Amino acid sequence: MSARSRGHVDGEQLRDRIAVELARARSRTTLLTEVVDDADLMRQHSPLMSPLVWDLAHVGNQEELWLVRDVGGREPVRCDIDELYDAFKQPRRDRPALPLLPPAEARAYLETVRDKVHDLLDAVAFTERPLVADGFAFGMIVQHEQQHDETMLATHQLRSGSAVLHAPAPPEPHRPSVQVDGEVLVPAGEFIMGTDTDPWALDNERPAHRVDLPAYVIDAAPVTNGQYAAFMADGGYTDPRWWSPAGWAHRLREQLSAPMHWRRDGDQWSYRRFGRWSRVRADEPVVHVCWYEAQAYAAWAGKRLPTEAEWEKAARWDPASGRSRRYPWGDDDPTEAHANLDQRHLWPAPVGAYPAGASPLGVHQLIGDVWEWTSTTFNGHPGFAAFPYREYSEVFFGDDYRVLRGGSFGTDRSACRGTFRNWDYPIRRQIFSGFRCARDARPDESYR
Ligand code: AVJ
Ligand code: FE
Repeated sequence: MSARSRGHVDGEQLRDRIAVELARARSRTTLLTEVVDDADLMRQHSPLMSPLVWDLAHVGNQEELWLVRDVGGREPVRCDIDELYDAFKQPRRDRPALPLLPPAEARAYLETVRDKVHDLLDAVAFTERPLVADGFAFGMIVQHEQQHDETMLATHQLRSGSAVLHAPAPPEPHRPSVQVDGEVLVPAGEFIMGTDTDPWALDNERPAHRVDLPAYVIDAAPVTNGQYAAFMADGGYTDPRWWSPAGWAHRLREQLSAPMHWRRDGDQWSYRRFGRWSRVRADEPVVHVCWYEAQAYAAWAGKRLPTEAEWEKAARWDPASGRSRRYPWGDDDPTEAHANLDQRHLWPAPVGAYPAGASPLGVHQLIGDVWEWTSTTFNGHPGFAAFPYREYSEVFFGDDYRVLRGGSFGTDRSACRGTFRNWDYPIRRQIFSGFRCARDARPDESYR
């Protein structure tokens, strides 16, 4: 039965769920913007990022545009600031020089918009109009705020100064749940990629379509710091053999020699995480590497990055039923036992910490911990239709971006599922990006 035919009672449930998700997003936004002072909010911590106060008001402005004005058909709260907070009109590096709303004004603006959204949420009929069916526009705005919260978290990671964010360490591994260097064979055959039915799936996750893949082997876990350090110790950063031409040029230009935020301490490595230095832990997934670094590591290891389709088949395909599911563990929403999501922790969990989140074939930590680079450039699935606006996905299609999958410790569960697609330039590593490797199956493996 479709959500649309469930009638009045489920309409109330949908309203409640939307209210809960809006509130969860807002409390995270509030946390990320109240732990620093006004000067810190207005400052640009890196030319790659906006001042936090830009993200803050941009979140409110998108909520006004899509919910207050479009869904609600209400009068604008203020239309004088649309240009300022239009991500396409204002490149990130220029944002600190804009006449931005000061923090107090930005907070008041978000509150005014949110009050109007609650008014219209009380009144809205979840008709078949695509923007409101299943509460889509509300879901899109929840995910938008959570995505900017992850971006703000990455800004916090770039911020110098003492630590302002605190969280418990991620869980320890269950042993023996997975071998750090384990591999899983995924048999040849078709699976369904993408979705038509997930109500809050964004345009780029649609439509569902068949993809036929030859047998392949994928790592049971993301590549760890220990594995990555072995590549470094073996001269991986100084041997052009492992790098693509563009990657090698980039490596030379930027003098890359370790993941971002790492520093050598004698014969050890340390990393800086949200203002605190600590020893690099060998069994944690490596994070803050760019696509070029991931690709070079994979070549050194005698492997390659998985294609996006290989990643999704490993994450969703259920060998027992042949169905594609929402998550590696099934269709149920993620819990604390399944995955390191929701900024509950401030770094990736060691390999083996989430046996309950593994796929039926035994692939671990596909969801949460680190965004995983794939070899695939960002394009629409066959039959893609931009919705509700070209600027969400379509304008980014082409060869410039690589797809990342699975979400990180800083991704909220509302913006993470087996079909969710993220993308970035192959040089970017301020995001919470790691990877796992794959390879073609050998004939003796595939015909066992
Ligand atoms: C999907 C993370 C690449 O942050 O640029 C935020 C999400 N789109 N506002 C981004 C997004 C519009 C997007 N990413
Ligand atoms: Fe945005």
